[in-house]
Amino acid sequence: MDARLLVVGLAPGLRGANCTGRPFTGDYAGALLYPSLLKYGLARGTYGAEANDGLDLVDCRITNAVRCVPPANKPTPQEQKTCRDFLVAEIAAMPRLRSILVLGRIAHEATITTLGLRKAAYPFGHGTTHRIDGKPAVTDSYHCSRYNLNTKVLTEPMFHAALERAIAAT
Ligand code: URA
Repeated sequence: MDARLLVVGLAPGLRGANCTGRPFTGDYAGALLYPSLLKYGLARGTYGAEANDGLDLVDCRITNAVRCVPPANKPTPQEQKTCRDFLVAEIAAMPRLRSILVLGRIAHEATITTLGLRKAAYPFGHGTTHRIDGKPAVTDSYHCSRYNLNTKVLTEPMFHAALERAIAAT
């Protein structure tokens, strides 16, 4: 599915997306991500934490940097490298893509590498939008994980501000 905005997460949660088959669906992080997409018109319907909840994305697609469930949410470099082929194929199949919102450093690095750029030239920074000639803009956000939200590394207003930047780049 082509779209102007792509959200790149880390990996499916064990009892959430890994079971429901839809990124972030049933995971703690989805309880912020999907209502945020609804708020900004990037989704229609109601998020019900299951794949058949009828929710539709609007000019937006969601994927993960890593496809397997990594122990302790820490994918190995080999897992990241192996899964990058999926991200490469997904981005190649999105000719209308203008803007990518990356959730966390691993998603950021996977995306920067997938775009054929040097990681050192585009460091991760929450709220930063990297504008790159001839490529989709890349906006960084801390991951909306349970840990980051509980410790207030990321708050809902911070997340919405990053999403607004990514939307502005579409
Ligand atoms: N679920 C996902 O699908 N991706 C994440 O990054 C976190 C939870």
